[in-house]
Amino acid sequence: MREITALGYVVVSGSDLDAWSTFGQHGLGLQLNSPADGEDPDTVYFRVDDRSWRFAVERGADGGLVALGFEVASDADLTRLCARLAAAGVATTEAPALAGKRRVGRLVQATDPSGVHLEFFCGAAIDRAAFVSPTGARFVTGAQGVGHAVMSVADLAASHFFYQELLGFRLSDVIVLGGAFEIYFTSPNRRHHSLAYVAPPGAPGGRLEHVMLEVDDLDVVGRALDYCLDNKVAIRSMLGKHTNDHMVSFYCISPSGLAIEYGWGGREIDEESHQVNRYDASSYWGHRPPDGRSVEQEIREMLGAGRE
Ligand SMILES: [Fe+2]
Repeated sequence: MREITALGYVVVSGSDLDAWSTFGQHGLGLQLNSPADGEDPDTVYFRVDDRSWRFAVERGADGGLVALGFEVASDADLTRLCARLAAAGVATTEAPALAGKRRVGRLVQATDPSGVHLEFFCGAAIDRAAFVSPTGARFVTGAQGVGHAVMSVADLAASHFFYQELLGFRLSDVIVLGGAFEIYFTSPNRRHHSLAYVAPPGAPGGRLEHVMLEVDDLDVVGRALDYCLDNKVAIRSMLGKHTNDHMVSFYCISPSGLAIEYGWGGREIDEESHQVNRYDASSYWGHRPPDGRSVEQEIREMLGAGRE
């Protein structure tokens, strides 16, 4: 049983909201949609489509993940999801005040096995004004949700049970990096992955590793990369193509330290015909750090550091 339809929104925290506002609009092509009446001065809201918002930055610690918002289609589905979570011993809390702040009809809070705050919601607000990107970007959203999130988890087995068994996410495939640690790619819809998780050696669980936003035009990705290089936005990985989801993307470091993957061309998964494969590399080509080291070298050095 799968009530969740998509990763509907992501809320992160950061200390410099002005810098995020500039970067979000002119770097990523997001449309600022914070309330004009100052009702929520400590949150920057961004649109990527017809929704009132799908990505927000709350004033707080740099690099923090405030919540992943998972969407269900209806009130009845949300009730059914809560009942199944309760039967499995997962506590859920109705949060009507937070639903108002998030501009959704109903919102239930829960915590995943790594302590990540999850918000299950239905009834997202649609804006009457058309989405207009400052850079002309058109984002791939709709039934595929806002994009994807990748996070570290404390306990792989507990995460498998929670996301795949309880929430019913499909496992798309597994990448084994450096022959040492596995990344699991999951989704409730046709997007190759809405949530990927990994238990990297020496890293704490519950940390947001990156968020991916997908546009429908490779030129928009290239222009965003130019913006980053022109404006001294740090690049984590140069342009490359991922093995499993075929995304052509680069990774930059946002003003709060969170890495943003900005990509084009991700493949969709047809569950009727899909087979779960394993890969021994994350990219067919590229995704090198800016100093030009190979990804394999970067991973070897990271694994070496993790053992110290
Ligand atoms: Fe990604």
